[in-house]
Amino acid sequence: MKKAVFISKKINNFNKKIYIPGDKSLSIRFVLLASMAIGKSSAYNILKSADLMSSLKAIYKLGINYRIKKNLCEIYGKGLNGFKFKNNTIINAGNSGTLARLIFGLLINSKNTVILKGDKSLKKRDFSRVIKPMQMMGQNIKSRSNKLPIKIKGTNFPRAIHYYEKIGSAQVKSCILLAGMKTPGITKIEAVHSRTHTENFFKYLKLPIQIKKKKNLELIKFKGMENYKGFNYFIPGDISSASFFIVLALLTKNSKILIKNVNVNNSRTGIIDILKKMNGKIKIKNKKMYKGEEIADIECKYSPNLKGIKINPQINSRAIDELPLIFCLACAKAKGISYAKNLGELRHKEQDRLKFVLKFLKMIGVKVIEKNNNLKIYGNPNLKLSGSYIVKNFMKDHRAFMLACIAALTLGGRNWSIHDVDSINTSFPNFISILKSLGAKIN
Ligand code: S3P
Repeated sequence: MKKAVFISKKINNFNKKIYIPGDKSLSIRFVLLASMAIGKSSAYNILKSADLMSSLKAIYKLGINYRIKKNLCEIYGKGLNGFKFKNNTIINAGNSGTLARLIFGLLINSKNTVILKGDKSLKKRDFSRVIKPMQMMGQNIKSRSNKLPIKIKGTNFPRAIHYYEKIGSAQVKSCILLAGMKTPGITKIEAVHSRTHTENFFKYLKLPIQIKKKKNLELIKFKGMENYKGFNYFIPGDISSASFFIVLALLTKNSKILIKNVNVNNSRTGIIDILKKMNGKIKIKNKKMYKGEEIADIECKYSPNLKGIKINPQINSRAIDELPLIFCLACAKAKGISYAKNLGELRHKEQDRLKFVLKFLKMIGVKVIEKNNNLKIYGNPNLKLSGSYIVKNFMKDHRAFMLACIAALTLGGRNWSIHDVDSINTSFPNFISILKSLGAKIN
């Protein structure tokens, strides 16, 4: 496998329509929910990536069969209590924080122990955020400092809990909801807003969930122990993957792109709101509802007048995976200063992404000040690079790799060497080939 890519030329103007692979959050949730349905579930356009393979292998280890035919994924669920596996079964979540956090919920009543493992990056991440609620529900968990590998064994008597989810983490909220499925009684969560895909799936499956939205919180009530039948689903494109092409179009002279069939669930579209406020020319077209999720086409045009922004921290969770891209490219090229606050969660991703942002902005010569997880970025609309740049040692963070490629293709520079191209297998295996289809020269 080739380890690095080399870019020494900006991309020329383009005017194209593209399709982006299926949404990662929805694909993983489909796999986990289908594994507990009764009978066959099918998903079209499921993301075919390393995180998805880890998810499919995980349910297989729990005794659930699956089949992949081209873009169709079929899963043969055996109901809420259908898992069967040997004691000390090893599940390797690879790079996937979402799989690793959500699977705790599936194991709330497991009779045998699972040993949960992960790759170098996942082993550094903290699991206390799910260990705490799962222990409250009765799960037996053994770990060293809340890090992988973790031994997980369920309880015969899972307890419904009332939990205050203060981080704004969809992974934590979803883990509790999935455990709640196997719990008699009513699970209650008071949660800071975060992506809503699990709740949308529950509603579509007609599971008894009630949600009240308050200003900063949502109050969720969910009654467990309801079996549901296998279901069919179409996975729309991933806005987190689309975002690299949104920014590419905004920063490339005389360019236009139409990104088809993207998931534009309001809990995911922070990047669009932020970039529009910065004068980004972005239009959402053909919006339609599909099984509780919103799908639309996103049209973006070259936007030469980007201006700095004060990002309201309440939007952070709606753009959590896109913030580094916004900071390192849009804010860097904008006129004026941009401010962002409460960015501590960025430190808990595939790598410490706040640290990466600081390192990257310094490397490309953009002034940035960080204090207590707040940022001040001094944008420069005339930013043009001429040096050589090496991007490496970023824990194979897929989003850091893709961000660096978009920087190389829009900011110039004599030569960029961007390491660990295989990181894109995590979420967007055909990232480079779509870039090439737009005319990018990448070796
Ligand atoms: C995800 C939630 C987010 C996000 C991650 C995917 C999900 O994490 O960063 O890439 O699918 O639930 P948190 O919920 O921890 O913020």
